[in-house]
Amino acid sequence: MSAAIKNVTVIGSGLMGAGIAQVAAQTGHIVTMVDIDEMAVNKAEKRIGDSIKRVAKKKFGDDGDGAAEFISGSISRLGTSTDAVAAVGSADLVVEAIVENLNVKKKLFAELDKAAPSHTIFASNTSSLSITAIADATTRKDRFGGLHFFNPVPVMKLLEVVRIPETSQETYESMCDWGKAMGKVTVECKDTPGFIVNRLLIPYTLEAIRLLERGDASARDIDTAMKLGAGYPMGPIELSDYVGLDTSKFIIDGWHKSFPDVELFKPSPMLEKLVVKIAETTEETLATMNDWGKAMGKKVVLCKDSPGFITNRLFVPYLLSSIRLLERGIATKEDIDKACKYGLGHVMGPIELSDFVGLDTLVNVSEAWMKDYPGVQEFELPPLLKKAVDEGKFGRKSGEGFYKYSE
Ligand code: CAA
Repeated sequence: MSAAIKNVTVIGSGLMGAGIAQVAAQTGHIVTMVDIDEMAVNKAEKRIGDSIKRVAKKKFGDDGDGAAEFISGSISRLGTSTDAVAAVGSADLVVEAIVENLNVKKKLFAELDKAAPSHTIFASNTSSLSITAIADATTRKDRFGGLHFFNPVPVMKLLEVVRIPETSQETYESMCDWGKAMGKVTVECKDTPGFIVNRLLIPYTLEAIRLLERGDASARDIDTAMKLGAGYPMGPIELSDYVGLDTSKFIIDGWHKSFPDVELFKPSPMLEKLVVKIAETTEETLATMNDWGKAMGKKVVLCKDSPGFITNRLFVPYLLSSIRLLERGIATKEDIDKACKYGLGHVMGPIELSDFVGLDTLVNVSEAWMKDYPGVQEFELPPLLKKAVDEGKFGRKSGEGFYKYSE
C-alpha cells in the first residue's frame, strides 16, 4: 500500500510550477508554491487565477455557485512562500520545477534533504536532465523520482513517472497514485534523455525548424500540414513557440553535448537566430495549385520536392523513433501511445499509428530513404519493425502489427 500524499510543496512558480501547484490545489491537496521572491510568486498567482477560471467554466458551465466554490476552495488550499527550506517541513511530496541547471537543482535538493521529514518523496519535473544525477545530491534515492508534466498543466492529461534504479516500489506507487489523484494518466518511464514524449517531440519540432531552414516550406504551411495531415492540435512551429524556443534549445544542446554523433540531436542555427527565409515560387503556379486545392475543399500548403514533403518528413522519423523506444525497452507500447495522446493531445499514439499506416509501408519508406539518403540515422529501419513485417505483421490491415486487431 502506498502512503497517500496530502501536503505538496512545489518549488518554482514558472509556467510548469504554477500549473502543477494549481492542479494539486484543485484536486484537494494542501499546496505550498515556492519561488525566490514575492514578484515571481505574485505573477504566478495571477496566472493561476486566470487559468482556474477557465477550468471552472469548463467544469461547471452555467453553475455559477459551483464554479465560485471550486475556485475559492482551490485558492484556499494554495499557500505561497519564498523560503524553500521552511516550506518542506510538513511536505509528503516535493516537486521541483526550477531552472534547468543541474548544479542549481542539486544544491536545492541537498538543502531540502536535510530539512524535509524522512518520509517525504522528492521529485523533479526536469525535461532534459538526468533524474539519477539530481538524486545523487540527496540521501533518499529510494524516495526520489521524476514527475514530468506537460504544458498547459491544467489541460494536458499526461504525467510521466520516471523511476531510477533506486526508486522503491512504494515511492513509485505513491507517485502514480498521486498522479491519478491529480486527474492525470500516468505512464512509467526509465531515466533516459527526454523520457518518452520529449524524446519523440524535440527531434520532430527541430526537424520542422530545419524544414524552414532549408526553405522547404513556410512556417504556416508546416503547421497547417501537421494539423490537417496528421490531426495534431498544434503545428510543430507554433508548438515550439508555445513550449519556449529556449527550452527546446536547452534540451537539444544538452543532448548534443552528451551524444555528439547523433544526427537527430544536432542543434539548429535557426533556433539561435529565428530568421525565416522562404524561397520564392512563381506566383502563377501557386495560384493554379491554390485554386485547384480550394476547389477540392482542401487547405493548400506549399512545399519543395524534398523527401516526405512536410507531413511524412516529420511523421515517419517520429514513428520510427517511437519503435526504437520500444526496441530499447524504454517504455511499453501502451505507455508510449498514452504518453503522446495525453501529453501532446494526439488522436493516436505513434505505435498504434504505425499499425494504422501499415508496418510494411513504413519499411518501404525507410528503405527507400536509406537508399536515397545514406547515413541519415533518423531514416534507418529499426530491426523490430523489420522483424514484425518479416513475420507477416503489417498492422491493422493484416489483423496484427504491434497490437492485435479483432476485425
Ligand atoms: N488553463 C486552463 N485551461 C486552459 C488553458 C490553461 N492555461 N489553456 C487552454 N485551456 C482550455 C481552454 O479553456 C479550452 O477549454 P474549452 O474546451 O472548454 O473551451 C481548451 O483548453 C482549449 O483551449 P483554447 O480553445 O484556448 O485553444 P485550443 O483549442 O487551441 O487548445 C491547447 C489549446 C490545449 C494548448 C491545444 O492547442 C493543445 O493541446 N496543444 C498541444 C500542446 C502540447 O503538445 N503540449 C505539450 C508540450 S511538450 C511539454 O510540455 C513537455 C516539455 O518538457 C517541453
